[in-house]
Amino acid sequence: MKFARALVWLFIATAPLAGQEGHGVTPADIQRGSQLYFASCSRCHGENGDGIAGVSLFSNRFRRAQTDAELTGLIRGGIPGTAMPPGNYSDDQAFGIVAYLRSMATAPRTASANTNAGDAARGRTIFAGKGGCLICHRVHDTGGFTGPDLTAIGASRRLPDLERSITDPNFEIRDTNRPVRAVTKDGAVIQGTLLNYDTYSIQLMDTKGNLRALQKDKLKEYEFMKTSPMPSYKDKLTAQEIADVVSYLGGLKGLTQ
Ligand code: HEC
Ligand code: HEC
Repeated sequence: MKFARALVWLFIATAPLAGQEGHGVTPADIQRGSQLYFASCSRCHGENGDGIAGVSLFSNRFRRAQTDAELTGLIRGGIPGTAMPPGNYSDDQAFGIVAYLRSMATAPRTASANTNAGDAARGRTIFAGKGGCLICHRVHDTGGFTGPDLTAIGASRRLPDLERSITDPNFEIRDTNRPVRAVTKDGAVIQGTLLNYDTYSIQLMDTKGNLRALQKDKLKEYEFMKTSPMPSYKDKLTAQEIADVVSYLGGLKGLTQ
């Protein structure tokens, strides 16, 4: 996927899989791997990779595998004589799972990766105040339209992923959140979040929350932006403040407050 920076550190840290030469790990691979992990692995290994005693899947240290190729073999073949089942994963799927396991080992592990470290009530105050998050995000019908609605974000994303969204917004822009910028032939600039597009038109939600359908032949230009309009908060908030905001977001499950 082109919408985020390539993960240079992953290139360095891991040799490419056989048959995947030249294909570096992209955020899309990691996203695919994460979905597979939650579909097929987390029921035994847990959402933090530590559900089985003596096995720590998010540590980059495996007792039974060193290289990506060995890891792939293990994930496909299972471990005979143990509960670890074989799985019929395609090259792309296996590549994604390995990429996800490797990426979790380098995901931020600050205080907020631990549910108890952040204070959700303080996080809510920062979200609405100092953080300025409501300028762009909505929670329960309050807030702006430049970014996605976060009312139920805690139900679909894990705490370390939320933290990474705040400290490194360009790391992964989810397909459903693609920022788009279009200029009409008479020069008007329209920015928003892509909803859908086809050969002739682009549908987006503009920054005021209006649904807009733009005919491509009426546009001078349009682009799907590679960088997020969201600033990184890495240096804008303290580690504790980020932990607080992550804790608040983690509790947003779409229910009324
Ligand atoms: C039914 C439960 C179960 C499921 C589902 C499962 N595993 Fe396992 N897995 C285990 C058990 C138990 C072990 C430990 C086996 C042993 O060494 O005794 C294990 C071991 C492993 C190891 C080796 C760890 C090491 O330190 O060498 C890896 C890697 C692994 N699993 C990855 C996965 C992945 C990835 C998935 C999903 C695609 C998955 N497992 C699905 C039960 C499961
Ligand atoms: C200038 C507008 C803007 C501000 C301010 C802003 N964001 Fe964002 N945010 C966005 C946009 C646009 C996206 C979607 C693109 C992306 O993923 O980076 C996004 C994405 C996110 C996501 C990922 C959502 C998902 O579906 O995975 C989270 C979480 C998030 N923002 C939290 C915050 C928090 C917390 C703050 C305040 C500390 C904040 N944002 C401030 C615009 C903004």
